[in-house]
Amino acid sequence: MRRSVFAGVGAYLPERVMTNAELARMVDTSDEWIVERSGIRERRIAAAGEKTSDLALKAAQAALDQAGLEADALDLIVLATATPDETFPATACAVQAGLGMSRGFAFDVQAVCSGFVFALATADNFIKAGQADTALVIGAETFSRILDWKDRGTCVLFGDGAGATVLRAQDGAGTAADRGILKTALHSDGSKHDLLYVDGGPSATGTVGQLRMQGREVFKHAVGNLSAVVGETLAGTGLGVQDIDWVVPHQANLRILDGTARKLGLPREKMVVTVDRHGNTSAASVPLALAEAVGDGRIQPGQVVMMEAMGGGFTWGAALARW
Ligand code: UT7
Repeated sequence: MRRSVFAGVGAYLPERVMTNAELARMVDTSDEWIVERSGIRERRIAAAGEKTSDLALKAAQAALDQAGLEADALDLIVLATATPDETFPATACAVQAGLGMSRGFAFDVQAVCSGFVFALATADNFIKAGQADTALVIGAETFSRILDWKDRGTCVLFGDGAGATVLRAQDGAGTAADRGILKTALHSDGSKHDLLYVDGGPSATGTVGQLRMQGREVFKHAVGNLSAVVGETLAGTGLGVQDIDWVVPHQANLRILDGTARKLGLPREKMVVTVDRHGNTSAASVPLALAEAVGDGRIQPGQVVMMEAMGGGFTWGAALARW
C-alpha cells in the first residue's frame, strides 16, 4: 500500500486588507451584519495585475521550502481554481514555468470551493497508482475579479489568497495508524447549478461573468452535506469522530463551521478558523487554514486531520489524513 504523506505546506495572502467598514462605504451593509451573519471581519484583495498564478507561485515556493525540495523533484502539479489567469493554458502550467520545473506534468481542476479537496484526491490517486512520487497541490483564487461589487449579498463574503501542499509517496504503509492521506470522498450534484454560479464563460457568453449566489439556499445544504461526507470519509478507516484532532474546513461562514461541529458532536475548538481574517477564498481556504495551523504548531505529526469543503456545482468532499 502506497500513501501520500504531507511533506510541506505554504500560504500566501495579498498585502491589501479590505475591512467591513470599507465595504460599508461601497454597498448598503454594516460591520455588524457581516460579522453576525458570516463571522468575516476582513479579507485580502489581490493588487492590480497580481494574478492567481502569482499568489499560487508564492504559496508553492513556501511549501517546497518547508519540504526541503527543489521544483525539479516534482512529478505533478494539480492546481485548484475557479479564477484561472486565462481560459487556457492551465494556471498550473504558469506555476510550473514560474518554479522553473522542466519535467513532469501540471493541470488545473475546477470544483470551486471544494477544489482543493478534489485536487488533493486527484494527486493522491496519481501517487497511489504509481504515476507520481512527488506532487504539489495548490488552491489559489482571485475571487475579487469575479464579484459584483454592487451586490451586497455576495461581495462582502469573498477574498483572495493561495495555499499549497507537497505530497510524497511512502511505500509500505498499510494500516490506519500510518501517516498520510487515509481516505478521500467526493460528491457533486449538477442539478444545483442555479444556486451558485458565474453568469459568464467562454462558451456560454464569451464574457468572464460575475458570481451569483442564493446564499440562504446554499446555506441550507451545507451543514448536512459536510457532516455526511465527514462520516463517509471516516467509515471503514477504524477511526471515529472522537479520533479527529483537527478539522480544517472550507471557510465560507462561521455559522456553517459551528453547525457542522455541532452536528458531528465535535468540540468547536477542534475547528481551524480563518474565515474572520480571510473571508471565503474558495479553493484556497482549506490549504490557507492548514498552513496556519501547521505553522503555529497546532497540527502536530501523528495527529488526525479532517479536511472538508463544499461549493458551486454543487460539489463537496473530504479528506482524512494522519499528519
Ligand atoms: O463557499 C461556497 C459556499 N457558499 C456558502 O456556503 C455561503 C452560504 N450562505 C451564507 O453564508 C449565508 O446565507 C449568507 C452569509 C450569504 C447570508 O446570510 P443569511 O442569514 O442566509 O441572510 P439572507 O441571505 O437570508 O439575508 C437576510 C437579509 C436579507 O434582507 P431581507 O430580505 O430579510 O429584508 C438580505 O437582503 O439580509 C440582507 N442582506 C444584507 N444586509 C446587510 C444580504 N446581504 C447583506 C449585507 N448587508 N451584506
